[in-house]
This record gives sequence, C-alpha cells and structure tokens, in this order.
Amino acid sequence: MKGLFVSFEGIDGAGKSTHIDALAAALRAQGRTVVLTREPGGTPLAEKLRALALNDAMDPLTEALLMFAARRDHLLQVIEPALARGDAVLCDRFTDATFAYQGAGRGFDLEVLATLERWVQSVDAIGKDGIRQPDVTVWFDLDPAVAAQRLAGARVPDKFESQPQAFFARVAAGYAARAAADPRRFLRVRADQAREAVWREVEAGLRAKGVLA
Ligand code: TMP
Repeated sequence: MKGLFVSFEGIDGAGKSTHIDALAAALRAQGRTVVLTREPGGTPLAEKLRALALNDAMDPLTEALLMFAARRDHLLQVIEPALARGDAVLCDRFTDATFAYQGAGRGFDLEVLATLERWVQSVDAIGKDGIRQPDVTVWFDLDPAVAAQRLAGARVPDKFESQPQAFFARVAAGYAARAAADPRRFLRVRADQAREAVWREVEAGLRAKGVLA
C-alpha cells in the first residue's frame, strides 16, 4: 500500500481528537496500519520542544523556530519512515498550524515561514522539486466565539489556549487563507455541529478524496 499522510487542523476547541481516533479505526478496518501522532511533538526531542513552546514566553521567531525544529525531527524520525513503509500517518496539526498561529495569530512574517517550510519539509523521498505536505488536511472550521465557550471551564489552558478571542479570530483567518491557497489538499468541515454530524462530514469528505473506501 502507498503511504498516506493526513493532518488535522483548527483553532483550539474545534474538537479534532475524537475524529482522529474514529478515522484511525475506520482505516484499520480497511486493513491499513495507522500511525497516530501530533505536532509539536511525536518524538522524545520534539515533545521536549513542545513543552517549551506551549509553556514558556518567547518572541514569535523563537516560537516559529521551535515549531519547525520539532517538525524536522518528527518528519525524519516518524513520518517519513512510516510513509516509506506504506502506513497511514494521522497527524494532529502540521505546518498549517505554524502559518495560522505564528503567522496570522502572532503576525510573524509569512515569507520567512515559507522559507522555513521549504527547508524543513525537503526530504529525500520527494526530491529537489517539492516538499513533503499532507495528502489531505482536515480543517475543523469553528467560530472563535463558539471555541471560547467550549474552552471555558475545560482543562487548565496552555499558553495558546489562554489567548484572547481576537487571537483565535486571526488564527481562523490564517487557516482560511491556507485552505484557499491549496483547496485540493484541504477538506473543510463545519465543526459547530453535533459530533456525529461532524463525523459524517469528515467521512463523506474523505470518501470523496479517496482516503476512505
Ligand atoms: P494541541 O493542543 O492541538 O495539541 O496543539 C498545541 C498548541 O500548539 C495549539 O494551541 C496550537 C499550537 N501550535 C502552534 O502554535 N504552532 C504550530 O506549528 C503547531 C503545530 C501548534
């Protein structure tokens, strides 16, 4: 089987997790080996970088560099080997999150992020002319006001979850811009519905993209 790389994106509170687990089960039922992973994180080194990036105060460039450093390690240690084996990699966030959070949210230079993206996601399996990107990105699109309600009273917020609603409005716009730039890769799902309805959209969209039979 050919490797499959699916990422999941959305503002904090968009409710990705249960759908990632449901998709893993659906793919396994179709005979695929599934690797579940996340960013920042997914390797011992990248998990250490995650703890720093999510908890310590730092300027936007430092934050972006930590995200990309974690991504490079994760890509080389976990994602590329899994894709080479023909596994399905389900990754909770990938580079679109850096463009949305550090770019649109923090206001960091998108050109610099695009340069880092090219450096970090250049891998042997793709060759000189391209970079590794997910085959499909499931984007859980949610109104920041609804996300804020969902997050209120949830677990103790990390550095990002405790940002004001205006920050998440910018992050959401950042995701919309990335989706508009690459509509073939993105599957937009309306995350303001009941969980079952969201899953039906995920399932139908992934069937249309050939990910699910
Ligand atoms: P999670 O809570 O969905 O695991 O995501 C961790 C947090 O890290 C989330 O608030 C988004 C943020 N993040 C970035 O700011 N930039 C990135 O590149 C990634 C992958 C995540």
